[in-house]
Amino acid sequence: MKHVAIAIDGPAAAGKSTVAKIVAKRLGFVYIDTGAMYRAFTWYVLHRGLDPKNEEASCSLIPEVRISLKEDGSVFVCGHDVTRAIREPLVSSNVSYIASYKGIRLALIDLQRELGEKDNCVMDGRDIGSYVLPHAEVKIFQIASVETRAKRRFLENQEKGIPTTYEEVVADVKNRDYIDSHRDFDPLMQAEDAIPLDTSDMTIEEVVDAILRIVEEKTGVKACR
Ligand code: DC
Repeated sequence: MKHVAIAIDGPAAAGKSTVAKIVAKRLGFVYIDTGAMYRAFTWYVLHRGLDPKNEEASCSLIPEVRISLKEDGSVFVCGHDVTRAIREPLVSSNVSYIASYKGIRLALIDLQRELGEKDNCVMDGRDIGSYVLPHAEVKIFQIASVETRAKRRFLENQEKGIPTTYEEVVADVKNRDYIDSHRDFDPLMQAEDAIPLDTSDMTIEEVVDAILRIVEEKTGVKACR
């Protein structure tokens, strides 16, 4: 089988990672969570006592930051297991600043391309179809209303025991949407050849089935149950 890459992009909390993980499992592909890389970098900047709003200070860490995503979904940065810590509100509210710095983006995009070329993959993020993997066989742009996205993220936080109010989640989602789509370099953008999927009124299973149908149509690759 020829190498197949599936790009799933869209705004914050659109349910991309939940869906991408299941799609990857059903296809037997590797799942690559690029948001986790920006989050891990943000965690490391905070861990080093630096201000994520300071571009120069944050970028000075590029040569020393080593990020790895494990098969079981855990995330490591410079030997620290940050799987849970990168979902904490302090990281969520600072990650868009880190993701807006060109130097950091270029370093993480190199890593994403390297991982994406190795195996058949499902990669989710903001710029996968438009910039990281422009030749991906399947490109999905997953959207949902701000209210739906905030509700989903709020429930997810509750399940994980992460303390936030619904109002804080709405503010965070809106703020990240704004910063992600207004940065100068490589903003959140739907690739011209991406298929838009509004998931506001869809269940996770319906979204997964819709994506798997598109994958089969475009590549001939069939999913396992
Ligand atoms: O998907 P997420 O919420 O874990 O992403 C965290 C942040 O990283 C988000 O604010 C946007 C940014 N990001 C990005 O700019 N490009 C990507 N490919 C993935 C995430």
